Amino acid sequence: MGDSLRSAGPLVCVVGARPNYMKMAPLLRAFGARPALPGVVLVHTGQHYDLAMNERLFADLQLPAPDLNLEVGSGTHAVQTAEVMRRFEPVVDELKPGCVIVVGDVNSTLACSLVAGKKNIPVAHVEAGLRSYDREMPEEINRLLTDQLADILYTTERSAADNLQREGIDASRVQFVGNVMIDSLLAHRPRAIAPAQTLERAGIDRAIAEGPAGFGVVTLHRPSNVDSPDAFCEAVAALVGVASRIPLVWPVHPRARANIDRFGLAASLSAAAITLLQPQGYLEMLGLMANARVVLTDSGGIQEETTALSVPCLTMRENTERPITVEQGTNTLVGRDSALIGRCIDEILRNGGKRGRVPELWDGRTAERIAAHLETWLAMPKLARCGG
Ligand code: UD1
Repeated sequence: MGDSLRSAGPLVCVVGARPNYMKMAPLLRAFGARPALPGVVLVHTGQHYDLAMNERLFADLQLPAPDLNLEVGSGTHAVQTAEVMRRFEPVVDELKPGCVIVVGDVNSTLACSLVAGKKNIPVAHVEAGLRSYDREMPEEINRLLTDQLADILYTTERSAADNLQREGIDASRVQFVGNVMIDSLLAHRPRAIAPAQTLERAGIDRAIAEGPAGFGVVTLHRPSNVDSPDAFCEAVAALVGVASRIPLVWPVHPRARANIDRFGLAASLSAAAITLLQPQGYLEMLGLMANARVVLTDSGGIQEETTALSVPCLTMRENTERPITVEQGTNTLVGRDSALIGRCIDEILRNGGKRGRVPELWDGRTAERIAAHLETWLAMPKLARCGG
């Protein structure tokens, strides 16, 4: 069995944007630990390219340098997706992968799944089946289509299987394995950088991280929050309200940074106790989140990381594709509702807020489970895979 597997084409692992890296790093380690599996080729599409969005995270996560970088860069969704497809196709033609492994829900995830699917190359999707049921989110379209294309769908929470069943995806393709991003979190937590050190390195008074009230962390980058002036002003007004109670530290994504300037929001932010930072590395973010009293975010991954860290999270969205973080974890959906956010902050400052519990199989061993399953799956005759 092992020999035939090794002679199959490589496992082509795709990353494109920041939230992919913490998912792929443990997978690469787990694949490498199974000598029977084919070799790995790491392809970076180049969707994210800034040092802070990219190379620093690679170093923090001890990811090897990509074997190939497609250097697609930024563009509209159609341009970016098409460009990834155009550049990934010859890679697939040349390498003839035994399987293409994609993670998450960014444009690169969908683009590479589509190329591989049309060439009849097996696709494994890690973090399948999450649904916000909000098609205004570009990621929701990416999730829906990637899951239709994937041969194996690895899920992080049990509700994902219900979503997939509703879309006609056979249960034999779905594997509940847990959350690979939590593998990274648990592996790197001991190396997390103390918030005071992160602030000091940015030339900011470290006392902000050491005050008696503690501090909160903000991340915002979704188009629905930061691309329209009305929405972004409303979000900033809510944050200014929070900052009157507890100081906030905000590592700003390039999309949000550009719009802070464009919409003239810098003055109200600098008048409030809100410290803006450049996008941070993985270990800095881990340190900030783990030590925060509250995190305010519109990120998907941070909803899960705060649940794993047992830190209250106020998600500035109307919905979440990760319902387990609300049902079992520390997450509360608050949108941009200042009054609701104020009430949640009251509770957090009074009694610590939601503590939650860590969901099933978020145990740091998800990548191992995926590697073990993939080894068995690839060794099966094609017709026997997924029930024939
Ligand atoms: C992408 C993902 C989103 C993910 C986010 C995390 C999609 C549809 N979206 O959104 O799911 O949560 O990454 O960061 O794939 N830019 C830079 N440097 C970079 C990359 C981008 O300055 O290295 C700027 C560019 O001006 C670009 C903008 O940020 O136009 C947006 O980047 P893009 O990759 O298109 O989407 P994100 O908003 O980062």
